[in-house]
Amino acid sequence: MSTPIKILSVFGTRPEAIKFFPLVHALNADSRFDSRVCVSGQHRGMLDQVLQIAGITPDHDLDLMQPDQTLDSLTANLLTGIGHVLDQEKPDWVVVQGDTATAMAGALAAYYRKIPVAHVEAGLRSGNIHHPWPEEVNRKIVGSFAALHFAPTETAASALKREAVDPAAIHVTGNTVIDALHWITGEIEQKPELAAGLADLERRFAGKRIIGVTSHRRENFGGGMEAIADAVRRLAERGDVAMIFPVHLNPNVRKVMNAQLDGLDNVALIEPLDYPHFARLLDICTLMLTDSGGVQEEAPALGKPVLVMRETTERPEGVEAGTAQLVGTDADRIVAEANRLLDDPDAYAAMSRAHNPFGDGQAVGRIVEALAKG
Ligand code: UD1
Ligand code: UDP
Repeated sequence: MSTPIKILSVFGTRPEAIKFFPLVHALNADSRFDSRVCVSGQHRGMLDQVLQIAGITPDHDLDLMQPDQTLDSLTANLLTGIGHVLDQEKPDWVVVQGDTATAMAGALAAYYRKIPVAHVEAGLRSGNIHHPWPEEVNRKIVGSFAALHFAPTETAASALKREAVDPAAIHVTGNTVIDALHWITGEIEQKPELAAGLADLERRFAGKRIIGVTSHRRENFGGGMEAIADAVRRLAERGDVAMIFPVHLNPNVRKVMNAQLDGLDNVALIEPLDYPHFARLLDICTLMLTDSGGVQEEAPALGKPVLVMRETTERPEGVEAGTAQLVGTDADRIVAEANRLLDDPDAYAAMSRAHNPFGDGQAVGRIVEALAKG
């Protein structure tokens, strides 16, 4: 029997963990691989929520998160911390996902040691280095030297080819977030209690249409966050809707949302939901307002209209499929577009068909086979 290929999966935030766990499950179950996991702890509570539900115990946990961390100190700590783990583990491959500081620094630490990098969710581009910030540059850095690029869509693969990436190194796989969504949906079907924690809110808001809200982007800090809060407050004045808003743990988000929205009748400001409960929110909502990347991918798969509170998106597939609409961070525009969907059944119906532009839930199988071939 040949020596298994040693893979070190490196991640550290909530969305990376969600998009990584199906791959970690598959690598752990496949004897062709010796699978190791290093978490940076860039996020703490929100990462642990995912590790717990997915049953993953990391081999290395750098526990790096600092309150209100800056990009430079975070990146410096990531680079040295992950570098030490690489020196210890000496993997054949390092796998990173997406565009966070952990993904960028993990890839760079591998490159400094001439360890090949495989990039999951490669090729997303907004074309604007300030939106999303700093993610657009993080993923370009990883894409500039990765040896394998797992592009979720043909659009992402085309962006990589435009940047002169070798087409033989690009695999169109679908996005692993759809694999994760299928997995969690199956878990909830078997154990409904996993997602039963919203029952009190569901009773409190019975008869109202639910609007789910999330917001955390760094480029929206300050004026953008204030405008999003203003839009949520104004929409909540409608008697027929209720807003459920799991507030990101970033203090720059919490101070604005708590100051503007705490205590309002039709607004539930709640702690970040674990993944099964967030899946439940996606299921019961009429509409999502978000600046999240992952939510833009999940909502179309479930046929839930999404108003994307950003100026640009590197995920145009949701907009092209008709389920997502870019509304920016102008409060008047957000309120007007949400009211249009709430008041015009034809407009709502046009946006609420399920599409799967981001994948068929089989991305992990394709990634594993490509890793096995090297
Ligand atoms: C990070 C990523 C962003 C990703 C987002 C997903 C970078 C630069 N940013 O943004 O790409 O879209 O995660 O959510 O990689 N905090 C906690 N507990 C947690 C998580 C965060 O207290 O579990 C607080 C801490 O004070 C921390 C701060 O939030 O310092 C910011 O966390 P950080 O990971 O730097 O940035 P995010 O805005 O979460
Ligand atoms: N999510 C979650 N609980 C929440 C909010 C979001 O589990 O309270 C999940 C959501 O389903 C999606 C991911 O977190 O898979 C998105 O993470 P986030 O918005 O923090 O980051 P982004 O995707 O913008 O990088």
